Amino acid sequence: MSEPTASDINQAIRAMRRSYGEVGLTEAIAGQEPLSLFSLWLTEAARNPYIVEANAMVLSTFDGQNLSTRTVLLKGFDSKSGGCTFFTNYHSRKAQSMDANPEVSLLFPWFPMERQVIINARVEKVTREESEEYFASRPWESRIGAWASDQSTELKDRSELEKKWSQYAEQYPKGSEVPLPEKWGGYRAVPHSFEFWQGRYSRLHDRIRFTQVSDGTWSRQRLAP
Ligand SMILES: Cc1cc2nc3c(=O)[nH]c(=O)nc-3n(C[C@H](O)[C@H](O)[C@H](O)COP(=O)(O)O)c2cc1C
Repeated sequence: MSEPTASDINQAIRAMRRSYGEVGLTEAIAGQEPLSLFSLWLTEAARNPYIVEANAMVLSTFDGQNLSTRTVLLKGFDSKSGGCTFFTNYHSRKAQSMDANPEVSLLFPWFPMERQVIINARVEKVTREESEEYFASRPWESRIGAWASDQSTELKDRSELEKKWSQYAEQYPKGSEVPLPEKWGGYRAVPHSFEFWQGRYSRLHDRIRFTQVSDGTWSRQRLAP
């Protein structure tokens, strides 16, 4: 097959035009606070066979100078505070960015359901006990991987990483206890705004935003699509 040209790529992009659905997001469905609706949409996305990894969320951070973005997996949701927990390397680019500025954005792209949720949140580290508990639940290969990878640092080549993995695999053989590395753990992003987007016909999409008010309650607005 010949290489696609720039014109082929643009033609393919222009040909992508979906009509969005009839089922809308009304104020009655949205309710007075966002946590119930988010729990409902997350559960529906998790049960939708067309959505792979409904818990994948795009995390954007801003350290004051550089904006950066990447996907991480939601590993826990606290339906009382809305806290979204994910795990990563505490020395990574994202961790350094969150150390400088704990304000983050999370985006759940549930395209097959014509849905998107954008959360603005403040992150905090979870307790070491919480990280230990989750780390222990991971497969052995992944635990060794966490030791082997100095996430976001430059590697000479792939063999450097594989060599380190083998060294740690030897140090902590399968079946033995793999301790939680100091450099690895969880963050909880505690939301202060949620924006729910539901695709609708004629590009008249529904957008409902909830913003937390100082007394801990939520205000709700409908936004133009
Ligand atoms: C579907 C998917 C899930 C991912 N989940 C995680 C995760 O939970 N934690 C993590 O540190 N990286 C995860 N990654 C990798 C990150 O997107 C990213 O490459 C890595 O964390 C380094 O980011 P940074 O250099 O900006 O810190 C995932 C990537 C994809 C595509």
